[in-house]
Order: sequence, then structure tokens, then C-alpha cells
Amino acid sequence: MKRVLRWIGFLLVAIGAVCVVIVVVTSNREVNAHVAPLTPPTVLGQASLERGKHVFTSASSCAVCHGADGGGGPFITDASMTLYAPNLTKGPGGVGVAYSDADYDRAIRRGVRPDGTRLIIMPSWAYAAFSDDDAASVIAYIRSLAPVDRVTPHVKLGPIGLLLVATHKLPFDATRLLDEGLPPSPPPAGVNSEYGRYLARISGCMGCHGTHLSGGHLLGSPDDPPATNLTPTGIGAWSLADFTRTMRTGKDPAGHELNPFMPWRTAGQMTDDELTAIYTYLKTVPARPTGQG
Ligand code: HEC
Ligand code: HEC
Repeated sequence: MKRVLRWIGFLLVAIGAVCVVIVVVTSNREVNAHVAPLTPPTVLGQASLERGKHVFTSASSCAVCHGADGGGGPFITDASMTLYAPNLTKGPGGVGVAYSDADYDRAIRRGVRPDGTRLIIMPSWAYAAFSDDDAASVIAYIRSLAPVDRVTPHVKLGPIGLLLVATHKLPFDATRLLDEGLPPSPPPAGVNSEYGRYLARISGCMGCHGTHLSGGHLLGSPDDPPATNLTPTGIGAWSLADFTRTMRTGKDPAGHELNPFMPWRTAGQMTDDELTAIYTYLKTVPARPTGQG
């Protein structure tokens, strides 16, 4: 009996070891995969430093991850992985020394490094929608930042991260874009639902609250709260004033203080016109049960 148990134990350990090897090999292959050529972004548009700063610090919340100085820093450092938001400036350790505008653009709007490998966590699905002018502006703004001397090491996956990648639970936005195709051409700026929809994508609302904004737990660690349903099912009766106040103050009409995972400090700095456009768009979104995309 004892010997049988010992054999079973041995077998389980062996199966476990094989699983670990499979996970490590699969996820390393994923991380090092080079994606098939994506349609490169079109020629960059008209750059405005002022617009670039607004996009970086507010409308697209780049600063939340890359820092207001663009110098990056630790983003996740736990058992899942060590992932830094890279230093985007031209200081020592930054990508700015080597990157051309096209390199920046491919990383931002396609989620792909110059060597063809895919970025993790960087929300390029959202930024793929950037107009040529917004892309040009944010790149010009990054280039205008003072050089930051900060080394931001390459991503290193831990055991949980390897498992997440191997099971496709940690998506690469580059692949999502290849699967879904590129977003439609951007509408001209305006206080209307079309532009509101554009903003809802480039400011990450759709990344966290779902493409159809029905909320749920799409991003973040298990400790982060699920994103609220923003369709009429969720915040249906809110007035424009309720919406704007919540975005600007981080406190909703019921008095609930929003968890900081909801980037209201940056997104709430969007202009009145931009927030009104998003609100107008939310009013056109069909009601959906929570967590349905
Ligand atoms: C949710 C956090 C987050 C936000 C928001 C974000 N980034 Fe990133 N970004 C990252 C991470 C993390 C990486 C590195 C990914 C990797 O190494 O696989 C990255 C990588 C990049 C790279 C590629 C650098 C390299 O090493 O090749 C560029 C360029 C970049 N981001 C620009 C931006 C810009 C511009 C914005 C806003 C429009 C932005 N990011 C918003 C997290 C973020
Ligand atoms: C990084 C993920 C993330 C992004 C990006 C994001 N949200 Fe959120 N949002 C959340 C989470 C999570 C909550 C729930 C917070 C809580 O429960 O305290 C939330 C809550 C909210 C609420 C409060 C709802 C309520 O009933 O209190 C509103 C309004 C909202 N988000 C709107 C937006 C809009 C508009 C955008 C785009 C400009 C956006 N969010 C972008 C994650 C995000």
C-alpha cells in the first residue's frame, strides 16, 4: 500500500513538472512572438503640443502609468510579474534616444515594439483609434519632455504571469487589433455622440467598462473592484451635472467615493465639451445587463 502511494505521489509530481514546463514554454513563445506585419499607422498628422499634453495627462491618462514626467516606473511588482511602464523620454534608460516617430506610433497605435514583439498591458486597443493629429500631438509632447534618467527594466513574468499568458488571460492588444480589425476613421471633434464614442475609446472607458460599456471585471487584479455598468441599466438616470461632478470629484451622486483604479483624477480633467460629448454618447448606448461586454 505504502509503495503504491509513493508511486502515485511520484506520478503527480511528474505530471506537475510537465505542466510547469508546458506553461513556461508556451508563455515564453507568446511573449517572444513576432506578430505578422500590421498595417502601419498612416503618415502622422498635424501636431499640437497643447493637445498632446492634454491627451497625455488627461484624455488618455498616459501619465497614470508612465508618470507625469514620462519617465515610467514600476507598474506591477508581485507574484504575477515585474512590469515597468517604460521611460518614454530621451534620458538615459528611455526609449526616446532610439525611437523614430514611426516607432512611437507603432507602439502606441498598434501595440508592437520596433522588433515586432507585442507590448503587454499597454492599452493600444484604445489608442488604435487615435486620429493622425492626436497621435502626432502625443508623440510631439513626449519628445518635448525633459530627459529623465531612469532605467525601466524589460517585463519579467512570474509564475502567475506565465500562467495568465499561457491561458490567454493576459491579452496582447496587438493581437486583439489583428483579430478585430482597426477602428473606423475618427470623427471631427464636436460636442456630439460620435466624438463622445471616439473619446470613450481613446480615454480607456471601453477598455475597463467594456466595448459596450456594460462593466464587469475586465482589467486589473482581483483586488480591484469591477467597473460599473455605464449603460442606462447602470447610470441611466444620471443628469449631465451628476456625470460631470462624479468625473471631476471622484464622488458619485449616492456619495460613494470611487476606487482610485477608476482614473477620475486624469479623465476628470477633460474639458466640459469632452465630458459632455461622452455623456451624450452614453445616452445613446443600448441598455445591457452588467458584464455583457
Ligand atoms: C495602464 C497603463 C498604461 C497606460 C495608460 C499607457 N501605457 Fe504605455 N505602456 C505601458 C506598459 C506597461 C508598457 C510596457 C509593456 C511591455 O513591456 O510589454 C508600455 C509601453 C509603451 C510604449 C513602448 C515603449 C517600449 O519599450 O517600446 C510607448 C511608446 C508607450 N507605452 C506610450 C504610451 C502613451 C503615449 C500612452 C497614452 C496615450 C500610454 N503609453 C498609456 C503602460 C501604459
Ligand atoms: C482603469 C480602468 C478604468 C477606466 C480607464 C475607466 N474606468 Fe470608470 N470605473 C472603473 C471602476 C473599477 C469603477 C468602479 C469604482 C468603484 O466601484 O469605486 C469605475 C466607475 C466609474 C463611474 C462611477 C459609477 C458609479 O455608479 O459610481 C463612472 C461614471 C465611470 N467609471 C465613468 C468612466 C468613464 C466615462 C471613463 C472614460 C473616460 C472611465 N470610467 C474609465 C474603471 C475604469
